Amino acid sequence: MTTAIIGVGNIGSPLARHLVGGGEPVVLAAKDESRTEALADELGPLAGAASVEDAIAGADAVVFAVWLDTIEELIAKDARLLESKVVVDPSNPLGFDESGQMIRTLPEGQSAGSVVAARLPAGAHYVKAFGTLVADSLASGANREPRRAVLFYATDDDAAATTIERLIRAAGFEPLKAGGLGDAGRLEMPGGDLHQAGLNGALLDLDEARTAAAAAEVTS
Ligand SMILES: NC(=O)c1ccc[n+]([C@@H]2O[C@H](COP(=O)([O-])OP(=O)(O)OC[C@H]3O[C@@H](n4cnc5c(N)ncnc54)[C@H](OP(=O)(O)O)[C@@H]3O)[C@@H](O)[C@H]2O)c1
Repeated sequence: MTTAIIGVGNIGSPLARHLVGGGEPVVLAAKDESRTEALADELGPLAGAASVEDAIAGADAVVFAVWLDTIEELIAKDARLLESKVVVDPSNPLGFDESGQMIRTLPEGQSAGSVVAARLPAGAHYVKAFGTLVADSLASGANREPRRAVLFYATDDDAAATTIERLIRAAGFEPLKAGGLGDAGRLEMPGGDLHQAGLNGALLDLDEARTAAAAAEVTS
């Protein structure tokens, strides 16, 4: 099972490192191929680098660790390659205004997940995951002791759930399903109650995460 990681920035790089550390083969793609080649060399024999198209074509699961507008562009270009793949979406509905301020790019109540899922071919297996921690926490929070930190995920798709649970465990975290595609917004920022930013910066263990997920369900 190979995972393509598209984008090796704040999220894609630590994720690649964690997955390789957990024994998962990865293939890395970005705009700048020299960067993906250097990272793949550093990570060793389980990691490779390729063009975006080749990375997707050769993978079972594809993590789009790029900004939402880039995910939309790449899906439009490579939709046929995504048939039957598990597509992992860590994106937030965020962008920058003309003065460089970070802003919400979608109307309140519309999740980035709903936008990404709607653009995928019918045979793709969508899951929202790997975006619930800020990048520093994702990088430093793997394999915590005595109890692992939780990464929430959301999907309507059983195959995607099985794959993301394996990948989250391999990456050194504990998976917890927060719901289906309709709950994706809970895992995004701004506004998601199960995003680290909505949890006052906390990393949760499994018991704490179950309580947080249930408490929010009761109040929502
Ligand atoms: N940063 C966070 O704390 C955080 C937390 C949770 C979720 N997220 C979400 O995770 C996603 C990635 O965020 P990030 O902070 O990791 O972004 P980032 O550091 O800006 O990295 C973006 C990556 O996308 C690549 N890229 C850009 N255009 C591309 C294209 N056309 N084809 C292939 N690769 C392309 C860039 O490649 P080059 O380097 O070659 O240009 C770069 O590796 C976003 O959707 C964000 O909302 C981020």
